[in-house]
Amino acid sequence: MERLRVTGGASLRGSVRVSGAKNSALKLMAAALLAEGRTTLRDVPSITDVQYMAELLRRLGAEVSRDNGTVTIDVPEKVNHEAPYELVRRLRASICVLGPLLARCGSADVALPGGDAIGSRGLDMHIAGLRRLGASVEVEHGYVVARAPDGLKGAMIGLDFPSVGATENILMAAALADGETVIDNVAREPEILDICHMLISMGAKIEGVGTSTLHIDGVTGLEPVDHTTVPDRIVTGSWAVAALMTRGDITVTNGRAEHLELVLDKLAGAGAVIEPATGQDGVGLRVSMSGRPRAIDVVTLPYPGFPTDLQPMVVALNAVSDGTAMITENVYEARFMFVNELARLGADVRIDGHHAVIRGRETLSGAPVVATDIRAGAGLVLAGLVAEGETLVSAVHHIDRGYPDFVGQLNQLGADVVREPDPDQFQA
Ligand code: UD1
Repeated sequence: MERLRVTGGASLRGSVRVSGAKNSALKLMAAALLAEGRTTLRDVPSITDVQYMAELLRRLGAEVSRDNGTVTIDVPEKVNHEAPYELVRRLRASICVLGPLLARCGSADVALPGGDAIGSRGLDMHIAGLRRLGASVEVEHGYVVARAPDGLKGAMIGLDFPSVGATENILMAAALADGETVIDNVAREPEILDICHMLISMGAKIEGVGTSTLHIDGVTGLEPVDHTTVPDRIVTGSWAVAALMTRGDITVTNGRAEHLELVLDKLAGAGAVIEPATGQDGVGLRVSMSGRPRAIDVVTLPYPGFPTDLQPMVVALNAVSDGTAMITENVYEARFMFVNELARLGADVRIDGHHAVIRGRETLSGAPVVATDIRAGAGLVLAGLVAEGETLVSAVHHIDRGYPDFVGQLNQLGADVVREPDPDQFQA
C-alpha cells in the first residue's frame, strides 16, 4: 500500500495532456467483444482499471496487448461467457460485458460487481432492459445469469433514469438483436456518444445519437475497428479546479471544453479566466485564476448537468473559497462520505441528506486522510495542495484507478507530491 505526501503552497502552472476517458475506454474494450477479429483502441489511459478490464477480456478468451496508449484486442470466434467474481469485483465497469456477451454467446454469467464505496449501485434497469430484449435474467449465487438461446429480439425500452451503465449494456446487446430497438431516456454523456460512434463504425445501425432516444436496427454481425477514445472530461475538469484552488494557470491539452460547458460556466462564476489554448501536445483549454475564488452552488445531474464525478473537487474548491456554497448530490447517496476526511483538513462542511453546505476558509491545514474512491481521492489531493504543511493521502490505489500518472503531472505543474510506502497500511 502506498500514500501520497502532498506539501501545500504551490501555485500550479504549465501544461498537461489529458488522455482518453476511463469511463469510455473500459466500455469500448467491452464493445470489442461484439466482433470477431482485432480491435485497436487508441489513447486508452494508463490506469489500473484498464489493466483489470484487460485481464477480464483475456479470461473471456481474447488476446489483449498494450503499447503505450494503444490497446489491441483479438477476439476469437467463440468467447467464454463467464466473468468471474475475482476479476469483476475489482471494477464495477466490468458489468458492461453483460450485454456484449449475451449478444455474442446467447448467454452470460457475470458476477455482481464491487466498485466504489459511494452508495448502492443497482442493476435493475440493466436487467429489465435485457429482459425486454427477450433474455431470461436472474441473479443467482452472486451472479447475473442471462440466457437468450434463440437470440435477442428488438423491443421498446424506457429507462426510469438515464443510467450510463444500463444505456451501454442495452445498446450493445440491441446492436446484434433481431429487429428494431428503441431506448428512451438514455444517458447522453460524451462517453455514450463515443461508444455509439465506435459501434456505428463497426457496422451497427444507430440513430438519435446525442439525443434522449436511441433507435437501433439490429444487424447480424459487426466488424472490428480502429477507434480513438474521447478525452477524459473528468480529469480535464479536475485540472481546471486545481487551477482555481491553487490560483494557478493550467493549460489542459486534448481537453474538450464543449464536454464541460456547465462546469466551466460555474468555474468562470468563481472568477476563473477560461480560454481556448494550444500547448505542446495540441489544442485544449487554459484555466487561470488570480485572487481567491468565490463560492459556487452546484447541483449534480446526468449529462449535460454537472457531473457527480467532479463533486468532490467542487466541495474542496468551496472549502477555500470566499463565501458559503450549497452542493446538492442527486446521483449517489453516499458520495459525501469523503467530507469527513476533508473536515480533517479543517474544511467547514455540514451535510444534510443530499445537500452539503460549505463555508469557505482562508486556509486548510495538512493532516493524514484516506481516499475512499477515485474522485474523493483526487479531491483530497487538491485540498492538500492548498493546505498548510503536509497532507498524507492514503489508499492511493483508488486514485490510480482513474488518473494516469497523477503524481507526475502534478509535479510537472509545480506541485510537491511524493509517492511513498504507507507504514500504517503495512501494520494493518
Ligand atoms: C457511470 C460512471 C461513473 C459516474 C456515473 C454517473 C463508469 C465506469 N462509471 O457509472 O463514474 O459517476 O456513470 O455519471 O462509466 N442505478 C440504479 N439501477 C440501475 C442502474 C443505475 O438504481 O440499473 C442508479 C445507481 O445506483 C446510481 C445511479 O443510478 O445511483 C447512476 O448510475 P449509472 O448512471 O448507471 O452510473 P454507472 O454506469 O454505474
